Amino acid sequence: MKSIVSLEGVSKAFGGLKAVDDVTCSLSEGIVTALIGPNGAGKSTLINLITGVFLPTAGLVKLGGVDISKLPMHARSRMGIARTYQTPQMIHGLSSIENVMAGAYRFGSHGLLKTIFAPWMVAKENSEIADRAAIALRTSGVPEQWWDRRATELPYGIQRRVEIARALAQEPKIILLDEPAAGLNPAETADIGRLLKQIARGGISVLLVEHDMPLVMSTADYVVVLNFGRTLAMGSPTEIAANPTVIAAYLGADDEDEAEAEAEECVA
Ligand SMILES: Nc1ncnc2c1ncn2[C@@H]1O[C@H](COP(=O)(O)OP(=O)(O)OP(=O)(O)O)[C@@H](O)[C@H]1O
Ligand SMILES: [Mg+2]
Repeated sequence: MKSIVSLEGVSKAFGGLKAVDDVTCSLSEGIVTALIGPNGAGKSTLINLITGVFLPTAGLVKLGGVDISKLPMHARSRMGIARTYQTPQMIHGLSSIENVMAGAYRFGSHGLLKTIFAPWMVAKENSEIADRAAIALRTSGVPEQWWDRRATELPYGIQRRVEIARALAQEPKIILLDEPAAGLNPAETADIGRLLKQIARGGISVLLVEHDMPLVMSTADYVVVLNFGRTLAMGSPTEIAANPTVIAAYLGADDEDEAEAEAEECVA
């Protein structure tokens, strides 16, 4: 499978703490890769290293084989990296569709001169952006009744979808989602899972950071496990679910045999 994002020996230290420690892995094109691990394992930090919020202390971040380790966030977003946040980041006072249009604006090329001398071109661009936002909202399953409502008035489950729509409106190559199902009920969570699969099948790679194991197991094609900033295991969901080291990390058991026995009990 062709890799879209690859990390080569990536580390990020905050003072003495290595939040991400020598991580090497790659995210393949057109699949859902899940990134899991206990609280504080470094999952959000890894997303921030891919999007450019943080620059790595060591190692390389590549997009389509090109080193982007030192590029600022806006350059990476223009190159096709989109994200959602652990807590939804809506622009207050704007409607849902305006929030999604804000995501699509990287396509808008008009500067001041064009606005003054060729306003019709700007109007055309704006309507194209509105069209793109409408497609993204529809794909993300946001009912039309919510499009013109202020983003902050939306039910939480709809807000999470609007965030995904905003990322999709950028027409990205890869979308990184930090706990998109946090705070959602099981039915809403299952819907998000189906949406993410649909996005991946459509050719956009997906990185899913998630604590909800049923969602990870039913949605991910490949799973990377982080623990204390290091990769603990990688493999298919079934391989990961049966991996005693992973089970031990999650249960906090100090004895792997004990963890394995507990896992067998869960299966039985
Ligand atoms: N900006 C920062 N400054 C200092 N320490 C940080 C910063 N961001 C994260 N950390 C620390 O880095 C470690 C990894 O944090 P991170 O947020 O990446 O974990 P996570 O896997 O996303 O956890 P969670 O599942 O709770 O969201 C933690 O110990 C955290 O306290
Ligand atoms: Mg996090």
